[in-house]
Amino acid sequence: MSTVLITGPTAGIGKSLAVQMAEKGHDLLLVARREHRLREISEEINEKYNVKVNYFVADLKDKNAPQAIYNFTKSLNLDISILMLNAGYQINTRLEEASLDDEEDCLRVLGISVIMLTKLFLNDLKQRGGGHIMVVSSMAAFAPPSGEFAVLYGPVKTFMNRFVEALNGAYNKHNIFATSACPGFTITEFHEVSGVQERMDKVPNYMKMSADDVAKESINGMLKRKEVIITGGLNRFLVATLKWFPKSLIKTIGNALAGGRYK
Ligand SMILES: NC(=O)c1ccc[n+]([C@@H]2O[C@H](COP(=O)([O-])OP(=O)(O)OC[C@H]3O[C@@H](n4cnc5c(N)ncnc54)[C@H](OP(=O)(O)O)[C@@H]3O)[C@@H](O)[C@H]2O)c1
Repeated sequence: MSTVLITGPTAGIGKSLAVQMAEKGHDLLLVARREHRLREISEEINEKYNVKVNYFVADLKDKNAPQAIYNFTKSLNLDISILMLNAGYQINTRLEEASLDDEEDCLRVLGISVIMLTKLFLNDLKQRGGGHIMVVSSMAAFAPPSGEFAVLYGPVKTFMNRFVEALNGAYNKHNIFATSACPGFTITEFHEVSGVQERMDKVPNYMKMSADDVAKESINGMLKRKEVIITGGLNRFLVATLKWFPKSLIKTIGNALAGGRYK
């Protein structure tokens, strides 16, 4: 049985991805930092769905983490068929305020670790005759840069979407299909961890999705080999119409809808 590798399954979207992939009968390798949560979730999933669940404790800020994860899969002889590269957070300060180390760490988690894990597993995916790579990106990849805070977040997610396109260009012929899942506001621990929970609380409920719904749409899209999934009808509408509006208007509407999210 092949195994799905999921980063960031100890909360939010990643946890929902793990449960739903187990529900479909897949074995899992879960990767995050909080060992107690990895253990609990692994046991829960294993009991409920009777699939094999392994976990590996790794901090994706660590340059050596992708190689250590890859080596672990080899030590257990796991046949990884799907990568779900989901772990992430946001630095919610002005660019000049965060330390160089903090900024580099965040780029590593959101971007460099995604590329390195993909690179490490590509030969194996080719040899096994194909697979999927899902990157959990964000609707922020499509939004025009706005506001003074977290200015790198949207651009890194745009980079990830372009990375996914490049992977499809290069590896579809090997039956490897890459997908960027792009959620909008999703109810997870992300906003608390990133210090923006107060602003998230002001976002109207009709703009928020559950992690389960985001995971479900993302998995369905991935299995249909879609390159980009924007989760939620309202989010799809917003992204489709963004190009028709001047940036200044989008910023004003965004602020109004999001209760000052971008101020
Ligand atoms: N929530 C939203 O509104 C939203 C919207 C668009 C896109 N997204 C994207 O969705 C993805 C998942 O976010 P979420 O909303 O589910 O957030 P979440 O509930 O805070 O979960 C984040 C996950 O990432 C893991 N993680 C964070 N830093 C890590 C590190 N240094 N090393 C290893 N694992 C790490 C966390 O595990 P540990 O703490 O145990 O390591 C946790 O499992 C992110 O890429 C985020 O950018 C979220």
